[in-house]
Amino acid sequence: MKRRLGNCIVELAIGDITAEQTDAIVNAANSELAGGGGVDGAIHAAAGPTIMQQTRKQYPDGCPTGSAVATNGGLLNVKYIFHTVGPIWRGGRLGEEADLRSAYRSCLQLAIDFQCESLSFPAISTGVYGYPLDLATEAALSEIQSFVKNNEAPQRIRCVLFNEGIYGAYARVLESWE
Ligand code: APR
Repeated sequence: MKRRLGNCIVELAIGDITAEQTDAIVNAANSELAGGGGVDGAIHAAAGPTIMQQTRKQYPDGCPTGSAVATNGGLLNVKYIFHTVGPIWRGGRLGEEADLRSAYRSCLQLAIDFQCESLSFPAISTGVYGYPLDLATEAALSEIQSFVKNNEAPQRIRCVLFNEGIYGAYARVLESWE
């Protein structure tokens, strides 16, 4: 499913983000950039050990929640991996939505800084970090929409969702866009 927003196409896909061929993919990392399971584990396993070598060398202090840092794509068919840290869900009153929006915004800004024409996101924070899917989806797509309206965004933004349930949540929100 796709929607056009000005010069940008926002696309939804079901799949594994490590198979993407966009200029950059986003990793849902932790603030220590220590690696983990989920999408983080899949990306490091597929991209190879040079990614962790880069993050250790260039970002020894890790990455705060809501921010993002870049490495190259290692063995993947992408130029860059943007490692961002979404919030851990703690009930919703501790700034989780602002942090999640900031994670998306930070990656979109890196895409501009690195002149990426296309960027693929996973559903940040919706796995181990426990952010309720419908709320995360609303925040993710609304932040993408407002960024695209206000910036020279990449031409293609893909949300690569791991299963049909997550895809369905995204599709319901995207369908409500005019
Ligand atoms: N491609 C796309 N999406 C994936 C993949 C994949 N290969 N693997 C998992 N997902 C999806 C999950 O289904 C979920 O919807 O990514 C979303 C984010 O889930 P997590 O990977 O658990 O990320 P998050 O909730 O942000 O938690 C981050 O988990 O792996 C650790 O090191 C990571 O500590 C950090 C935490």
